[in-house]
Amino acid sequence: MPTASANIGVVGLAVMGSNLARNLASREGNTVAVYNRSREKTDELIAEHPEAGFVPAFGYREFADSLTTPRTAIIMVKAGAPTDAVIDSLVEVFEPGDIIVDGGNAYFPDTIRREKAVRESGINFVGAGISGGEEGALNGPSIMPGGSDESWVTLGPILRSIAAVAEGEPCVTHVGHDGAGHFVKMVHNGIEYADMQLIAEAYDLIRRGTGKSPAEIADVFAEWNQGELESYLIEITAEVLRQNDAETGLPLVDVILDQAGAKGTGAWTVQTALSLGVPVSGIAEATFARSLSSHPEQREAAADLPGPDEGFAVAAGDVDAFIEDVRLALYASKIVAYSQGFDEIRAGATEYGWNIDLGAISKIWRGGCIIRAQFLNRIADAYAETPDLPLLMAAPYFAEALGRGQAAWRRVVVAAAEAGIPSPAFGSSLSYYDGIRADRLPAALVQGQRDFFGAHTYKRVDKDGTFHTLWSGDRTEIEAVDAH
Ligand SMILES: NC(=O)c1ccc[n+]([C@@H]2O[C@H](COP(=O)([O-])OP(=O)(O)OC[C@H]3O[C@@H](n4cnc5c(N)ncnc54)[C@H](OP(=O)(O)O)[C@@H]3O)[C@@H](O)[C@H]2O)c1
Repeated sequence: MPTASANIGVVGLAVMGSNLARNLASREGNTVAVYNRSREKTDELIAEHPEAGFVPAFGYREFADSLTTPRTAIIMVKAGAPTDAVIDSLVEVFEPGDIIVDGGNAYFPDTIRREKAVRESGINFVGAGISGGEEGALNGPSIMPGGSDESWVTLGPILRSIAAVAEGEPCVTHVGHDGAGHFVKMVHNGIEYADMQLIAEAYDLIRRGTGKSPAEIADVFAEWNQGELESYLIEITAEVLRQNDAETGLPLVDVILDQAGAKGTGAWTVQTALSLGVPVSGIAEATFARSLSSHPEQREAAADLPGPDEGFAVAAGDVDAFIEDVRLALYASKIVAYSQGFDEIRAGATEYGWNIDLGAISKIWRGGCIIRAQFLNRIADAYAETPDLPLLMAAPYFAEALGRGQAAWRRVVVAAAEAGIPSPAFGSSLSYYDGIRADRLPAALVQGQRDFFGAHTYKRVDKDGTFHTLWSGDRTEIEAVDAH
């Protein structure tokens, strides 16, 4: 039996697990036990990184025995059934008070279910969203842990030691109980979808409107990265646009097949938002845009459908002004997408009874993760000023930015529609903006229709109560039982 010498263990040593294990091992005070189902990955990791001082285990019992108590293990295996299989095996060899962390991309209802089941054995289960991919796992990810307060006491210092650091603060916070961490990670990914789609629409409009080359547009993005749009995604967009294909000499972006993939977290964000009744139109449009791109047979069938007669060309003298309009439209749409994402987190917290500090969430996204950006400081400021802010985009800083950008935003959406250039995220964000700020919505007519065909009743603006019009009778109004 090995002596218990490791304070933390990692199960699953593929790309993410091995990098996270190395990150843990590089931090003062950590000794890391490692285990992988098939032996080769463990042997490889030990051979390639003797400096890490890993404690290898080749079975779950040996793994448990190599850990000091309370045992703490982070699972980094394929999400879904493999995660359940590993949890079951660890529960067999762990003891009450020990901590199992799932660092994979689990769907939050699975995390809620697992936490409940594992808790019965007295073992703590923590679902932790980990963002930043391979590089983040190695050098410092943004970490979104859920789970109990008890487990956070042990886990907090370990996770703080490996997380990215932004402006002196580690990018990790105890998000809330059970599935809160994976919920927030899911919304993070949804926002990431929206941000990427908005950037892609900006690129497309500039390219088709001005005829600039991808390398020239890379310069535009690099310049934008110096201002209020400064972010990792803008930075890598410039890198991708500047890249030429070695084989053809063409811009790489022109030889990459235009069908965007997805691993499902965007769809989860939208499905969850639908069931919570939260409009996340930016995220939804971004998710659907990927789906649309990935149906080549339908795109081929639609290729001959007519578009506008006129081509789209911004006059030479207007190019700089057009690019500035696109920048403002991008920023305004981005504000909407983030505001919607934070709304979803707030609604999730209410639904599932989590006490989530929205300002703290924006802070832990400032480093290590894909949506890291200066902009997140403004979100933190807004929640610091008004913790129960009903609508993020109505906070003074964002309201000013939207006011400053709205005329340009409208010009861009109009230009895109007239030119036949798809801009679903720009367009839907603007519609959301106009919808949420409207004095009166045509929802009144929808209520009238619902009452007509289904006697669903309606409220009135001028008095309390619930009403129904006798549509198939004499069309007088009666007071009715609320059937909304
Ligand atoms: N946050 C991010 O940016 C990010 C990026 C990538 C991945 N992830 C998440 O991180 C997790 C790990 O990702 P990854 O790409 O490193 O690995 P992966 O390809 O998702 O999974 C491979 C690992 O799972 C193990 N595994 C599969 N089935 C198993 C089972 N039934 N029992 C025990 N182990 C099993 C494999 O062991 P064998 O070697 O024995 O096959 C291997 O260690 C996933 O949940 C993934 O979604 C996150």
